[in-house]
Amino acid sequence: MPLAVSVQAGEATGGEGGSFRLDALAEGAAPGEAKFRAEAAGGRVVFRGTISTRDAESIRSAAASVVDEASRLELEQVSVAIPPLAELDLEQFFIGLHLAGYRFDQYRQASKPEHPCPASVLVETAVDASGALARALAISSAVALARDLVNEPPSVMTPSRFAEIAGSVAASSGLQIRVWDEEECRRERLGGLLGVAAGSVQPPRVVKASYVPGGAKERVALVGKGITFDSGGLSLKQPGSMMTMKTDMSGAAAVLAALSALPALGLGVEVHGYMMLTENLPSGSAQKPGDVLITRSGKTIEVLNTDAEGRLVLADGLTLAVEEGCGTVVDIATLTGACVVALGDEVAGVMGNDEALVEALREAGTKAAEPCWPLPLPERYESDIKSEIADMKNIGKAGSAGAITAGLLLQRFVSGARWAHLDVAGPARAESNRGWIRQGGTGFGVMTFLSWLAGL
Ligand code: BES
Ligand code: ZN
Ligand code: ZN
Repeated sequence: MPLAVSVQAGEATGGEGGSFRLDALAEGAAPGEAKFRAEAAGGRVVFRGTISTRDAESIRSAAASVVDEASRLELEQVSVAIPPLAELDLEQFFIGLHLAGYRFDQYRQASKPEHPCPASVLVETAVDASGALARALAISSAVALARDLVNEPPSVMTPSRFAEIAGSVAASSGLQIRVWDEEECRRERLGGLLGVAAGSVQPPRVVKASYVPGGAKERVALVGKGITFDSGGLSLKQPGSMMTMKTDMSGAAAVLAALSALPALGLGVEVHGYMMLTENLPSGSAQKPGDVLITRSGKTIEVLNTDAEGRLVLADGLTLAVEEGCGTVVDIATLTGACVVALGDEVAGVMGNDEALVEALREAGTKAAEPCWPLPLPERYESDIKSEIADMKNIGKAGSAGAITAGLLLQRFVSGARWAHLDVAGPARAESNRGWIRQGGTGFGVMTFLSWLAGL
């Protein structure tokens, strides 16, 4: 974490010297008004602005404007004085500071490619905010982990490298972990994952990370799509669409990242995360359009487009999760371009076989400032994935409800469990900096999961 945030309780006096003072913090501003102006006054920089206390988005974006302004002025240290404001959720303010201070610049040689973000922010509060800061640090470190995993180049972040990192994350955060190598994937008949992996020299991996607190009443599984690079396979993508396809493991990254925060947050839910990791590449050994895969469940899928690979690996992941006996299963995936067409690049699609679960995730997303919007799974579209020779095919009708037909296919692998699916193809990645969201992998889903799990 490049930016260190600390708190000091007591009289909110503001900083000295080249520091900021946030001395005009008022309720009632519209989200768009959560901006601050820095001005020189009496030998120091005074920071004036208003903040809406209504929602996480505006609190975080106010915090982000502190970081952005400090960065523009190249201030090393910033202090922010916050007057007593009962409704202000300081946890969100701290998350906004941390996430706006996120940088991924280890591949740059130039020492100052852009304005550096401040090294530290001291937040002076009228109340003791150390608990809120500790929670915010756990949450934003998890988001930063997800962003780091996504932002690494695809030839670095291979399935085996992801699994290695998962091992060290599990060791340092206190999770149980199990990794399936290619041989075990074969032994466990993970036909969906192996079909996608067939074209690559990089072997696939399944990572299972578990958080098992004493006395848990709920058992939940999270399943993440982890395509460390999606070229489309033999149904090759156009160069333009391939440029961002290192992002296609964002689901797996969000699952590992959310799990990594659970011990520190001390949540009372048992959570098992399954990360389905492989590349999707063309080669002489790649699966071909027309091939039929036998998934772990025994159900067969005719692969008519090798670029619709996410559902193939998730089919096996969902089966593993259901076999584990988790009554509630949620998957997260950069699954379809169709979802981006429907909802754009800031809103995720949420679907499932249980209305209350879908609604709970949508609410958690709203609290976490990660908007998720429900899409239906109408039975009438089941015929779109009917295959001539297998139990189903991996594509629907061209140009017709692509996010939904993908969801309908997934639904066939979760019978007996409450299940929901998050399609994050749009919001998993940002093309430019937007306050607390930085260009690149966003870590979308991590905070939705943490907010949802905290409410169980
Ligand atoms: N990884 C892509 C989906 C995607 C698209 C993610 C854009 C992020 C941004 C997925 O594997 C894919 O290629 N899906 C195809 C499915 C189609 C062939 C049925 C798509 O959406 O075009
Ligand atoms: Zn694809
Ligand atoms: Zn994909």
